[in-house]
Amino acid sequence: MERPVKLGLLGLGTVGSGVYRILQENHEIICKRAGTEFEIAKILVRDLQKPRGVEIDPRKLTTSIADILEDPEISVVIELMGGLEPAYQYILAALERGKHVVTANKAVIAAHGARLIRLAASKGVDLCYEGSVGGGIPIIKPIRESLVGNRIEEIMGIVNGTTNYILTRMTQEKIAFSDALKQAQALGYAEADPAADIEGYDAANKLVILASLAFQTPISLQQVYYEGIDQVTLEDISFAQHLGYTIKLLAIAKRKPGGAEARVHPTFIPNEHPLASVNGVFNAVFVRGDAVGELMFYGRGAGDLPTGSAVAADIVDVLRNRLCGSHHRVETLWQPIPVEPVENVRTRYYIRLHAEDKPGVLAQIAASFGAEGVSIESMIQQGRGQDQPVPIVFITHEVEERQMRASLARISTLAVVKDIASVIRVEGVMS
Ligand code: NAP
Ligand code: HSE
Repeated sequence: MERPVKLGLLGLGTVGSGVYRILQENHEIICKRAGTEFEIAKILVRDLQKPRGVEIDPRKLTTSIADILEDPEISVVIELMGGLEPAYQYILAALERGKHVVTANKAVIAAHGARLIRLAASKGVDLCYEGSVGGGIPIIKPIRESLVGNRIEEIMGIVNGTTNYILTRMTQEKIAFSDALKQAQALGYAEADPAADIEGYDAANKLVILASLAFQTPISLQQVYYEGIDQVTLEDISFAQHLGYTIKLLAIAKRKPGGAEARVHPTFIPNEHPLASVNGVFNAVFVRGDAVGELMFYGRGAGDLPTGSAVAADIVDVLRNRLCGSHHRVETLWQPIPVEPVENVRTRYYIRLHAEDKPGVLAQIAASFGAEGVSIESMIQQGRGQDQPVPIVFITHEVEERQMRASLARISTLAVVKDIASVIRVEGVMS
């Protein structure tokens, strides 16, 4: 009988434990589907004494990476440690030794994907990263394989479960940002450093991965404009609801004549837009291809078993490719294309500012918008402030970001304006 294929697991945290559970509990059917027996031979962790949520033979645990990298019998390495280093060096070393690699590490793939993909191809091994974007949603394989006959024009999605969970709780229950974040962490959704989620860095990494694959170009994190949700307040959420919108952290990539645009930011989207009803830890990704039209992928974007499901699928792919001798089946033909600076992006805007409540104030603000070619679609002024500044909210028509910045610079110099509290882009409707 053929000996089981040996797998080495790097990390036994949220996702590592989920993968371990899936591979144990569904072992029989996974072996049948993979066409081979397999076993997790070694697991790299930091702390051997830490209680684990899964039953495990302690002899499998190690704190030495050499036990995995230098074991010639381990032919598949599953990296679920997170962070850029040492994860990147371990993946590199595994590929150089001719081992297949499965990872859910978007930071590593976004930063070094092009190099790692080339290395895997040159070594005739697989590098799979389905779990790196959208948790349990199959999105990498559909873009890379199922949509290969399309020219993909646009991707727009909610790709961070933590921030979607926080925004949903703030919107539906008006709970404070910090409480919602604590709950997302307790549920295992957040990154080890949750700033990556909150500040939009995690979603930007995922957009790098999706846009690079979709447009077949090596987009870098430096080319993606990103903002997080740390500036979104309950007040903005209330105004959004009042105006018929929902605030979501969106990752957007579009093909443009001669290039592309790629950005991540909190966004007002109309309540009737399908992304507006994607709540909690759920993610959704819209893809528009020239042949297929619009597609939407939806599912749990984080968590142990959903992400474990994506990682398990990659493992089965590797095992089957190994059987069939068909690694690197799908060619990656990456050609660099320019990514436009955010100043060139055209979109609509929600602006919330505080100004004195007296005659002529609105005229001054409107003149500042008008001077830069910004046209106002709607406006709300709430309550009489007596001596206090009052909030004024504007929704604009579509303008270039540089026009918006110039008009806000003018407005901030007006003596009647106390502050510009929020600037949030608006998507999903034609102006
Ligand atoms: P986690 O809970 O923090 O687990 C990390 C694991 O890696 C722990 O078992 C830790 O060991 C081990 N580890 C970390 N650094 C190590 C080092 N230098 N040497 C040895 N072991 C080390 O992380 P996670 O949430 O499972 O995330 C893992 C990866 O999946 C990340 O790339 C993340 O972005 C990605 N991901 C996560 C989710 C999610 O829902 N959490 C979803 C999709 C993708 P100890 O246990 O001994 O500390
Ligand atoms: N921290 C990430 C999120 C995990 O919340 O989406 C899934 O990639």
